[in-house]
Amino acid sequence: MRTESGRIINLADYRPTDFVLERVDLTFELDPTETKCTSRMLFHRREGAATDAPLVLDGDELNMTGLLYDGMPMEAERFTEEDDVLTIRELPETGSFEITVDTVINPEANTQLMGLYRTNGIYCTQCEAEGFRRITYFYDRPDVLCVYTVNIIADKESCPLLLSNGNFLGGAGYGEGKHFAAWFDPHPKPSYLFALVAGDLGVVEDSFTTMSGREVVLKIYVEHGKEPRAAYAMDALKRSMKWDEDVFGREYDLDIFMIVAVSDFNMGAMENKGLNVFNDKYVLADPDTATDADYANIEAIIAHEYFHNWTGNRITCRDWFQLCLKEGLTVYRDHEFSADQRSRAVKRIAEVRHLKSEQFPEDAGPLAHPVRPTKYREINNFYTTTVYEKGSEVTRMIATILGAELFKQGMDLYFERHDGDAATIEDFVKCFEDASGRDLSQFSLWYHQAGTPLVTVSSAFDQAKGVFTLSFEQMVPPTPGQSAKEPMHIPLRFGLLLADGTEAQPRAIEGAEVTGDVLHLTKRQQTVTFSGIPTRPVVTLNRGFSAPINLHFEQPLADLAHVARHDSDFFARWQALNDIALPNLVEAARGARNAGEIAVDPLLADTLIAVAGDETLEPAFRAQILALPSEADVAREHGGNNDPDAIRAGREAVLEVVAHKGAELFAALFDRNHTRGGFTPDAASAGKRALRNAALGYLAIAEGRPDRAAKAFETADNMTDLSAALTVLAHRFPDAPQTAEALEAFRARFADNALVIDKWFSIQSTIPGYGALDRVRALMESPLFNRSNPNRVRALVGTFAFSNPTGFNRADGAGYRFLAEQILEIDPKNPQLAARILTSMRSWRALEDVRSDHARNALRTIAAGEKLSSDVSDIVERMLK
Ligand code: PHE
Ligand code: ZN
Repeated sequence: MRTESGRIINLADYRPTDFVLERVDLTFELDPTETKCTSRMLFHRREGAATDAPLVLDGDELNMTGLLYDGMPMEAERFTEEDDVLTIRELPETGSFEITVDTVINPEANTQLMGLYRTNGIYCTQCEAEGFRRITYFYDRPDVLCVYTVNIIADKESCPLLLSNGNFLGGAGYGEGKHFAAWFDPHPKPSYLFALVAGDLGVVEDSFTTMSGREVVLKIYVEHGKEPRAAYAMDALKRSMKWDEDVFGREYDLDIFMIVAVSDFNMGAMENKGLNVFNDKYVLADPDTATDADYANIEAIIAHEYFHNWTGNRITCRDWFQLCLKEGLTVYRDHEFSADQRSRAVKRIAEVRHLKSEQFPEDAGPLAHPVRPTKYREINNFYTTTVYEKGSEVTRMIATILGAELFKQGMDLYFERHDGDAATIEDFVKCFEDASGRDLSQFSLWYHQAGTPLVTVSSAFDQAKGVFTLSFEQMVPPTPGQSAKEPMHIPLRFGLLLADGTEAQPRAIEGAEVTGDVLHLTKRQQTVTFSGIPTRPVVTLNRGFSAPINLHFEQPLADLAHVARHDSDFFARWQALNDIALPNLVEAARGARNAGEIAVDPLLADTLIAVAGDETLEPAFRAQILALPSEADVAREHGGNNDPDAIRAGREAVLEVVAHKGAELFAALFDRNHTRGGFTPDAASAGKRALRNAALGYLAIAEGRPDRAAKAFETADNMTDLSAALTVLAHRFPDAPQTAEALEAFRARFADNALVIDKWFSIQSTIPGYGALDRVRALMESPLFNRSNPNRVRALVGTFAFSNPTGFNRADGAGYRFLAEQILEIDPKNPQLAARILTSMRSWRALEDVRSDHARNALRTIAAGEKLSSDVSDIVERMLK
């Protein structure tokens, strides 16, 4: 494993390779502990490269057993193998030559899950970002694209299935109980998109006819017996393929598309060409075992990986600094897909909730980095919510600024101009500039400047002149390595609502460019006047969250309530309620911290209850309204000196008021939104369940007894309702006998279903309060806990650290010490997993002094660990800087 190497990679140092890789032939002879890999690579020297430049190939913990030059053993003087790098000298100035590398790999011992590993008896690979170099020496970088032929030899009995990228060439017996298969991928690709899977799996098969009439075979491979649980994923795949044709004009390009679900996987899924590998959590679903949220995730991730075929695979990244070129764009595409499949407004609310609770804290803390970073130490640590989610928001802003038609033309140009390329963000942006004629240089700061911009707004109305004025001031906070920031191009969708329910149509607007309903902020300070306004308007700003910013606008509560009840944009309605709720919750937290009185504005509870009870609105939207800003949201708004116990106490006080005031309504919602008779995962049914379960949460508070939740648990006929009831029982009544009974019944019923048992761990690890840590420690002793399965570790340890603010941030610091212990234990086995869980401490500096001292000490304990991986040491050092 690569340990702590202080080496920093800089964008400015990018240069192409000295040699061009024309093709590669790989042969794998699979064995659990001694897999033989032979790689034959055909190279020629790049035109213009120095004539004495050596060939320098990347490796990582490799065991090289042979090296040939044009089929003959390489003379020892001509190569060195040092520090995970193979250097070959004295290579021809012109003409092609062949290098053959033999390596021996131990898949069984590969607990990092990078390169070739085994999971439940299945051989599988994970190569992004730099896993291929754990298989063989290679130009393991995304700008080296070539065609691959792959031969796989394996035991026939244990590995009836032999898969790789591209199209199947043929197979045959191979003596002594073995067989072999050959695959050829005609699409040149970088090594990170290589995949191999071998083993004994069940399959679900289907087909898709593309827009030009080609028939594509679709196969999803899962463990035997789990085939029925892959049906929804298959349906989502076909809908994704159709959608990408309809909306982006993109057609699939091989004869076969395969997905393999595995139970040990570091991330969500991987877009290997023609052979996606998935964490089985994002494939397997049926009503008894998957929640509505699981179904929505499966749909989104199946789509995401499929969409990568064009945005990622056919057009890939020049280097890893450009990661957002494929990830930000592909997240944007999967967001749009889900919005079209479900309720657009509700989807947007969920996206923004996620962005604010995950990306905003990252951007406000020690791990902040630009969407397109300029340096990194460990690329694995840049698969972040900033690159993914903020990257998607930046793409969305391009669409907002250009408008749908020009955005589409820019995308078409991108596909046409860069198909087959390893491209950059500059290439991408240029396509939109060329398609629209608009200068996007200021806009591009979104890729380069980290930090969430803060826009402060004030308004004035001159009744006599009929002039309404909005004054804006924007500020981008300093972030690591970037102290001074330039003003950004911020596109704000807006509306001026009049009392009669119509929107004002200003005679003239001065002080900013306005296109349609988009106001373009470009200066540090900007005053915009709207003339011809008859009466004082209510402003609705940043509709649809058109820009990922913090907005400070002291609007009268009545104005916010007006937006919450009447805006034409449902996202804006939710946002307005949020803007009423958050200051209340922050105040309540202050009150709780100072042991003072907690005042709750009656307008908040009344508006919430009115919206929740409005039968003209879709249930999913009302459920979102009832989910008050989370404790993490309050912490972010509070902004520093945070005391998670006070934040919770304050928020609980607000919940109490709402629960009691709305008890009657909640009881009615609970009864009326029962989805009986056959579960369907569609958005409308999911919305009803979400509303009903939100009501159950409030009723548990109002009634103060577990009876209703216990009954809901007993009668639930699907996993959504079952796990919601169990969560209410566990979180509201942790000591009630009904809770213990329900937890045990759940465990016994699902003991052999890993994904459901993960829920059992997560629900318990998020029980709030001081006792959570002991509970987590006890659960780690359970025979069901499995340290080597990333999903299980995330479900218990990760969920505790990320999603249990009061339990994890215990004032005595025991939660942080526990985390340090866990990180040091996980790191040697799976550094990526350890580093990811460690980021749960990214907001430690915003804690009040007692806690932040404990947090710092825990981080120092980690930093002092022996033989830290580069993954963990990179994160911990940035957090302590
Ligand atoms: N490229 C994958 C995705 O977003 C994520 C991933 C990264 C998976 C690294 C594994 C390793 O779709
Ligand atoms: Zn992706």
